[in-house]
Amino acid sequence: MIELGAAARKLWSLRPDASFLNHGSYGACPIAVLQVQQQLREQMEAHPDAFMARIEPDSPDHAVRDVADSLAGFIGTAGTQIALVENATTGAQTVLNSLPLGPGDQILVTDHQYNSVRLAAEERCRKTGATLVVAHIPLPTTGSEIVQRVLDAAGPGVKLALLDHITSPSALVFPVEQLVSELHRRDILVMLDGAHCMGQIPLGLDSLGADWYIANAHKWLYAPKGSALMYASGGVAPLTRPLVTSHFFAKGFPDAFDYVGTRDYTSWLSIPAALNFFRELGPERVWNHNFRLVLAGSDAMINAGAVPASPIELCAAMRAFILPQKRPAIRADAASLMALLWNRERIQIRCTTLGGNLLLRFCAQAYVGEQELQRLAEALQRHGWPNRA
Ligand SMILES: Cc1ncc(COP(=O)(O)O)c(C=O)c1O
Repeated sequence: MIELGAAARKLWSLRPDASFLNHGSYGACPIAVLQVQQQLREQMEAHPDAFMARIEPDSPDHAVRDVADSLAGFIGTAGTQIALVENATTGAQTVLNSLPLGPGDQILVTDHQYNSVRLAAEERCRKTGATLVVAHIPLPTTGSEIVQRVLDAAGPGVKLALLDHITSPSALVFPVEQLVSELHRRDILVMLDGAHCMGQIPLGLDSLGADWYIANAHKWLYAPKGSALMYASGGVAPLTRPLVTSHFFAKGFPDAFDYVGTRDYTSWLSIPAALNFFRELGPERVWNHNFRLVLAGSDAMINAGAVPASPIELCAAMRAFILPQKRPAIRADAASLMALLWNRERIQIRCTTLGGNLLLRFCAQAYVGEQELQRLAEALQRHGWPNRA
């Protein structure tokens, strides 16, 4: 079994002269999984008709349904509750478009929401006359504060809550079990955006009880880009329709999502290979390795003057830090710090602003070694950051 950390890096094609501490944004697909995808592409181009026939939900081979079944056990649900979509952005818009909304209805989000999902919610509000309610979660924060802030905003008009399971800029694992049950008590439907979750943390979707759950396979599950899933519970599955109407639209959820026109389905079909890769590395082993990195990286970052955005209990394999400044952060601060760390240090990392804070988020991963996080902290000590307080 390969040692995790720097030794595992050769399983990926990431350029060798840099540190990649931003797995969360786009994922990184291992060489072995890309080879499987390449073989699938060769099969597709060798006999397009036979290949595409297998994608259709009526096919006796059920290629897409087989993928859903292979994922289902890993995330605690049944294959019939899962549709495949291209990415979390598509999944979130699918939910927004599926739910009838009108004037007087409200959609609840937080100010940590991923930007494209928030924009999609705003657009849906413009089209339907619904309004957006944004729960503000100040940083640093805690689990009980997150619950309080969300529930304070969950008034009687709220029909749908769109919540991140793990937030993007602030890397917070929301207390979703408690949030789902409290929101359901208020008759509010819940869509959890788990774009970062599948592969980063253990998942049990049926027991979690969200109405919809969106998860990327191309981030932490190591699948090729363009692979994600949408879970719909029995109650909302009949409402849930694909954004694209195609031949099997009338079949409803999930079959209507399987074939959505001629496109490259090889990312979806490579998901079982990604799952095998992850199982060979050992999910528990990867999660333990990542958490050890988060702990070691946190010590180094705190020594460099950074302030954790939350207690460690709200962290999985990523952690965000506030970089204290003399004035509220502006977007150019984040861009210039990312550029500096890349240009001067060859460190790829995500830096953003949220609520006037300059946030730096590092991601652990099977291919990241502890010394890379030490190097990050040393670089911050050496160069500082814009308007450092
Ligand atoms: C919370 C969250 N939702 C949605 C997305 C969008 O994912 P994708 O670009 O795969 O659609 C991201 C991407 O980082 C995310 O962090």
